[in-house]
Amino acid sequence: MIRIENLRKSFGTFEAVRGVSLDVPKGSFLVLVGPSGCGKSTMLRMLAGLETPSAGIIAYGGHVVSDGARNWTIEPARRDNGLVFQSYALWPHMTVAGNVDWPLKVAGMTKPERRLRIAEVLKLLGIAELAGRYPNEISGGQQQRVAIARMIAPKPGILLFDEPLSNLDAKLRVEMRTELLRIHRATGATSVYVTHDQVEAMTMASHVAVMNEGLIEQFGTPGELVANPASTFVATFVGTPPANLVPILPSPEGPALAGRIADRTLAGSAAAHAMFRAEDIAVTAEPTARSLALDFAEASPIAGRLMVTGTSGDLRLTAIVDEVPRFTIGDIVHFSLPARPSALFTASGARLN
Ligand SMILES: Nc1ncnc2c1ncn2[C@@H]1O[C@H](COP(=O)(O)OP(=O)(O)O)[C@@H](O)[C@H]1O
Ligand SMILES: [Mg+2]
Repeated sequence: MIRIENLRKSFGTFEAVRGVSLDVPKGSFLVLVGPSGCGKSTMLRMLAGLETPSAGIIAYGGHVVSDGARNWTIEPARRDNGLVFQSYALWPHMTVAGNVDWPLKVAGMTKPERRLRIAEVLKLLGIAELAGRYPNEISGGQQQRVAIARMIAPKPGILLFDEPLSNLDAKLRVEMRTELLRIHRATGATSVYVTHDQVEAMTMASHVAVMNEGLIEQFGTPGELVANPASTFVATFVGTPPANLVPILPSPEGPALAGRIADRTLAGSAAAHAMFRAEDIAVTAEPTARSLALDFAEASPIAGRLMVTGTSGDLRLTAIVDEVPRFTIGDIVHFSLPARPSALFTASGARLN
């Protein structure tokens, strides 16, 4: 549905997007996730037609809509997409119904058609009773629903969201995730959703593209990213909790995990980091053959189990266990690593095995 080929965007000498290629299947819910400043909004603005790419192309359903080489883009109103931002500017002097009506008028629909469609989308968003109110007479969460109703009213084939839930409180944010997915399914549109919140990404996405410094680090389903992270960046960015990375350092007996647990199987390998999942690490009060002694940092319940974190210098390990002795700050805790790491990475962060 959406094809992105070698897309780039420069602002002066700074390259915000540095060559992104992606194929977004029709009907999918793609989440672009990454830290602040990695180029997510720039990507979305190019998809929306608000920015012209410096290089590369964007095609919707086989039709090129932006072409960097020709410095050409179809303007936002003439592409088949709707856009919702974090700060959703409703027209303050128009009622809720008036706000939703506006894009339908622009699309040239007749008055009876528009009335029908307005009723339909307000019902879909659960805000039918607000039709006659003005934006300053409804809550922030309701305003966000109106913004979404206005976006989907003209039935765009592509829905674009830029951190649309960031201004909502935590409870409403979680509710709206489910709502947005329901709307996505109801419209059958292809959605591209930008967030810096990996939990939001992993819970909502059919496909995730992890962005870092203007590039896609990995594209896949949420399950694939957790099971098979392509880089140390992805391994430590996704998952609840994210995976543990243990540096492999030289020791008198050869390569050693954190410089302390000698591991002959790593001899001759280019591995510089070993990945261990929190569920695979055991926590004990006494040392074992493959344990690292760390300072107890915290223990918190997670889905009926216990998440225990310990630190030692730069090293920080998190284990998920059923039961542990009661630790307090100042205690030494032994984190026992499994015999085999789940993955190995080079010094530059690339996946080895
Ligand atoms: N119009 C602009 N002019 C100059 N630099 C920009 C402009 N827009 C974005 N940038 C820079 O590009 C980088 C990526 O920005 P952005 O796409 O907004 O990141 P994100 O949405 O991931 O936080 C940032 O370093 C930002 O400062
Ligand atoms: Mg942004």
